[in-house]
Amino acid sequence: VDESVQPQVLMDRSLEAVADYIKSGQVKRICVMTGAGISTAAGIPDFRSPGTGLYANLKRLNLPHAEAVFDISYFRNNPDPFYVLAQELYPGKFYPTISHAFIALLARKGLLDMLFTQNIDCLERRAGVPADRIVEAHGSFATQRCIDCKVEFPEDKMLEHIQASRVPRCEDRECRGLVKPDIVFFGEPLPRDFSAKSPRASMADLTLILGTSLTVFPFASLPELVTRGKPRVLFNMERVGSLGSRPDDVLALGQCDEGVRKLAKALGWDEELDTLWRNV
Ligand code: APR
Repeated sequence: VDESVQPQVLMDRSLEAVADYIKSGQVKRICVMTGAGISTAAGIPDFRSPGTGLYANLKRLNLPHAEAVFDISYFRNNPDPFYVLAQELYPGKFYPTISHAFIALLARKGLLDMLFTQNIDCLERRAGVPADRIVEAHGSFATQRCIDCKVEFPEDKMLEHIQASRVPRCEDRECRGLVKPDIVFFGEPLPRDFSAKSPRASMADLTLILGTSLTVFPFASLPELVTRGKPRVLFNMERVGSLGSRPDDVLALGQCDEGVRKLAKALGWDEELDTLWRNV
């Protein structure tokens, strides 16, 4: 496709032009894709930021390699490192950021078609994004089950075990398998919801990508599904994936909360965003 003949929907590659595009009424479906970068401002480390990322701070767990802590075959042999980490990551202690609130605001305005998140912290739900508008591509801590018989494990007992840093085991005497939260480990398939809903990325009039290195597939292939001629906006510290390669890609590099505030201001939604954020 010769992109030079594509009708440019953006006046230029700025957040102000994105705001004009939204205000023009041409935008009916916004697709959002997020990673750990939108929760660092909430106090949850991301994975790969040099120095501060989780993978740079797991020395105390003596892992063969950092990602082993989320590897299903490693977990089967040695579940302890994961449960040390789970105590620090378990949801409930953290608060949604302005970026989470912005996604909830898009939903409130009927503009959010689908949010695809890689995060397991449930902060999007906490911010008020409706469950039917969220695909938790890497699962979440919301539920847990035995990895052998798949029987669900009670949440209150899970909480007790995590707080006591005790490894929970299946309550079925015949089974006694290891219990793991329903987060997707390396070596496990993504939820069916992901493959069922990922085609919606190709229907978006506008795609916002926030706080992800786009290093883990198949999630990282989502931005490629976006139809050419439909703008993709990256809110991230650095350029990632193929973002910036298309004529209507917009790069808002820096803290995602700042980029989101700038877009909200250009839309005239800054007060509404702040109020929503303060009340989540
Ligand atoms: N503002 C903007 N960008 C940020 C911010 C911030 N406040 N904080 C971090 N970032 C950026 C980092 O620069 C990096 O590009 O967010 C990205 C985070 O990348 P990762 O740490 O790799 O996190 P993520 O992309 O979500 O990882 C994907 O890897 O370990 C697996 O399953 C795990 O879901 C996770 C997947």
